[in-house]
Amino acid sequence: MKIGPSIMCANLLRLQDELNYVSQADWLHIDIMDGYMVPDFTFGIEATEQILNYSSLKSEIHLMSKSPLEHVEQYVKLKPDIITFHPEVLYDPLRVVYKLKEAGIQTGIAINPSIPIVALNEVIHQVDRVIIMGVNPGFIGQKLLKASLTKSLHLADIIKQKGLNTDIILDGGVKLENLKEIYEHKVDGVVVGTGIFHHNLGTEAALKAFKHTAK
Ligand code: DX5
Ligand code: ZN
Repeated sequence: MKIGPSIMCANLLRLQDELNYVSQADWLHIDIMDGYMVPDFTFGIEATEQILNYSSLKSEIHLMSKSPLEHVEQYVKLKPDIITFHPEVLYDPLRVVYKLKEAGIQTGIAINPSIPIVALNEVIHQVDRVIIMGVNPGFIGQKLLKASLTKSLHLADIIKQKGLNTDIILDGGVKLENLKEIYEHKVDGVVVGTGIFHHNLGTEAALKAFKHTAK
């Protein structure tokens, strides 16, 4: 199971050190929040560009925006490896998927706890990954909603039935203590924020512990 630290949870006063501490992760997860779709704000274009230029990890932008069609243009220019957006905010989410494919960027869709898996039926075959939110996005350090694990099993069945190889990612509420249970629910990768950056082991040792447990 792959590990993707969520850099919004890092000690931003020591961002460069924190990026170094997680340089052995499988990918870097950068949360972008517009203050509408979720009540918080995080990184703008300039800060995101600096993070992407500094880190050599595979990069994912998690675009929590109520206007992904408008905002995606700006983040595509930064050439991350993956852009993941929330389809429930659009009448036609495929318009964002086509823009990303045109730009040669891998596509991800993320669904909030209130959105059922069936809502993905018409788009899942067009994307590289699905993020199942383990929490209602917007705040760090929340408790994992167990219903998200049931969704993961349901999604894994659909992916198998359709013969797809879409990755299932769980984002939010992932801790060392629940990692094994998450793995047993067919999750391919986890986004981890406070579970790594606020761990009393320290960031680098916490990531090592996650990689060891996720084996
Ligand atoms: C939801 C974000 C997550 C969050 C994870 O707010 O999409 O990536 O930063 O933080 P933890 O792991 O602490 O729930
Ligand atoms: Zn996220």
